[in-house]
Amino acid sequence: MRVLGIETSCDETGVAVFDGDHGLLAHALYSQTALHAEYGGVVPELASRDHVRKLLPMIHAALTEAHTQPGQIDGIAYTAGPGLMGALLVGACLGKALAYAWKIPAIGIHHMEGHLLAPMLETPAPTFPFVALLVSGGHTQLVEVQAVGRYRTLGESVDDAAGEAFDKVAKLLGLPYPGGPALAKLAEQGVPGRFRFPRPMTERPGLDFSFSGLKTAVLTTLKTAARDPQTKADIACAFEEAVVDTLIIKCVRALQETGHRRLVVAGGVSANRKLREQLQQRMMQLGGQVFYPRLEFCTDNGAMIAYAGYMRLRAEHVPAPMAVTARWPLDSLTAP
Ligand code: KG4
Ligand code: ZN
Repeated sequence: MRVLGIETSCDETGVAVFDGDHGLLAHALYSQTALHAEYGGVVPELASRDHVRKLLPMIHAALTEAHTQPGQIDGIAYTAGPGLMGALLVGACLGKALAYAWKIPAIGIHHMEGHLLAPMLETPAPTFPFVALLVSGGHTQLVEVQAVGRYRTLGESVDDAAGEAFDKVAKLLGLPYPGGPALAKLAEQGVPGRFRFPRPMTERPGLDFSFSGLKTAVLTTLKTAARDPQTKADIACAFEEAVVDTLIIKCVRALQETGHRRLVVAGGVSANRKLREQLQQRMMQLGGQVFYPRLEFCTDNGAMIAYAGYMRLRAEHVPAPMAVTARWPLDSLTAP
């Protein structure tokens, strides 16, 4: 079975072709970063219009790269939510229209399920069951994963997502959008230990997160600290350490509470080098294993949607008709 995947939930246009026997045959990604940079964040209307411009040519290119004719595609998977409504509709409409024309099924995929399954495209791939830490710009969640579609949320952010905190603190430090990677780069020049920020919600039991207080702590420090480049780098370093520490503490707690030994980390913030290195070390100490997507599949991409679509379409012969939705709890999914 060969599936065309389409991702348009935010500011990246992603397209991929996944084949059950041969794996990933092609993938293409276009990031709208430059388009939104001058506004300091994603402008939904501009995002939708750009997906309209880019999507069809990218599908043509991906099919060519995959040496695939439309007649060889068995199903189309598009991101149906959560995300920006207008942006989602572009992918959904084109996905459904192509599926209608090609007389094949189309299936709407949960964006976070795509992220969660992305490490399955790597070798070695994690086996079920595992705990997943999903850390993106819109979500921070710990999920117990028994199988595709069998998800139980163990904890989530009660306010800002981790990526959102990175982006907001980057803005406070005067860094360009998108803030996360820029802040991580600046933090590399920082002197560890000069500043220290709290590890929110780690003192009490539970697996929820809160990152908005951390942003306020940075703001308070910035009001009194000097604004020289080294001080900014030191603050970035302390902020990154606080987020990474907090995420690691909660991951270890989730593994202890569930008894699982495998951890999957996915979503944009899983590209963070410090997080990857420190979690790797901690999991080795604990005798567990941690799995990440390759760097280009940490952030939004079409490959994860094509793969999730394949996993569902091979089991579900006639998927239910599917609209798009801006909000969609992961726990409401069912196994294919
Ligand atoms: O998964 P993603 O591409 O989009 C959403 O579904 O939200 O995640 C984007 C988020 C942004 O907040 C971005 O700043 C953050 O991931 N991010 C990073 C890094 N790379 C991307 N945060 C910290 N360090 C990074 N290296
Ligand atoms: Zn995402």
